[in-house]
Amino acid sequence: MPPVWRLSSVSVSKAMSFETKEVRTKSELDAIVDVIWAAMEPEPSHASFFPIVGSRELARERAIEESKSRLWHGHEMDSSSHWIYVTELEDGKQSVVGGCQWRIYDTNPFPDPDARINATWWPEGSTGRAFASEVASQCHQPRKAWMACPHAGITLMSVLPEKQRQGVGSQLMEWGLEQMNDRDIEGFVEASPSGRQLYLKHGFVDVAYVRVKMDHDDLSLTDVWKELEKNYLPVDYTAMWRPKGGHMPRDEMARIWKEKLKVPVKNHVEGLI
Ligand SMILES: CC(C)(COP(=O)(O)OP(=O)(O)OC[C@H]1O[C@@H](n2cnc3c(N)ncnc32)[C@H](O)[C@@H]1OP(=O)(O)O)[C@@H](O)C(=O)NCCC(=O)NCCS
Repeated sequence: MPPVWRLSSVSVSKAMSFETKEVRTKSELDAIVDVIWAAMEPEPSHASFFPIVGSRELARERAIEESKSRLWHGHEMDSSSHWIYVTELEDGKQSVVGGCQWRIYDTNPFPDPDARINATWWPEGSTGRAFASEVASQCHQPRKAWMACPHAGITLMSVLPEKQRQGVGSQLMEWGLEQMNDRDIEGFVEASPSGRQLYLKHGFVDVAYVRVKMDHDDLSLTDVWKELEKNYLPVDYTAMWRPKGGHMPRDEMARIWKEKLKVPVKNHVEGLI
């Protein structure tokens, strides 16, 4: 990554082409959501969280608009939420090339570890909503079980495919690493395979492989549910952690995580540390 220097809340790459900023308006977040769709639509887990319901092209536009409203509403309601993005200056025009959400928690954010997520982004009363609620709740459950403490978390880290491997993801990481170091808090992320490579480079370590597990009696399944499982599973990730300050002896990390992983969760979990 090229050297970076700070100008108040904005960091600027040496080439002066990439700038890191924090979202203040819905139109800034809308531009990040366009990047999320471009970067993440091919990811298997994308469709559960950003479903396209109905006939293809118009339905896709509606789904993108719905996700823009939903993420903005969620951001406005959540004082821990910071959307960070990187712009590139090209031909005199600034465009958004990457973005992510950092959530900075100075206290335990999970007072109710059993609270479930209701996938309101699927139609009310639909089997899709029941299915996506189960997927979303399971995806979030390990973090609630293991990170009931102050920490910084990353969600929806995305860089335009044509701008990847040029340091944009690293600039988005820098913002959060500085917060973690200043506040002396841990970091946690549910990583995709390419995200994992980025986080490894920035001091995160693998702590567990996590996969959504549907334990049900096959005979009771409806055809719609079976179809959803066929289309949307597996959903899995590598749970990654960064200790306070970014460093800790390996055996000390292993000792901490051996204890944390004892907290039962519904998912399939394999310890990696
Ligand atoms: C993950 C992602 C955000 C990385 O963004 P990026 O701008 O390409 O990251 P950087 O250029 O800053 O990469 C920094 C380092 O991370 C590692 N890295 C990043 N992506 C990698 C990949 N696909 N394969 C191997 N290493 C990778 C490399 O060590 C890289 O350094 P190098 O290019 O000097 O070798 C981007 O690949 C992406 O949007 N992927 C699709 C969406 C996704 O999976 N997001 C993560 C969700 S958890």
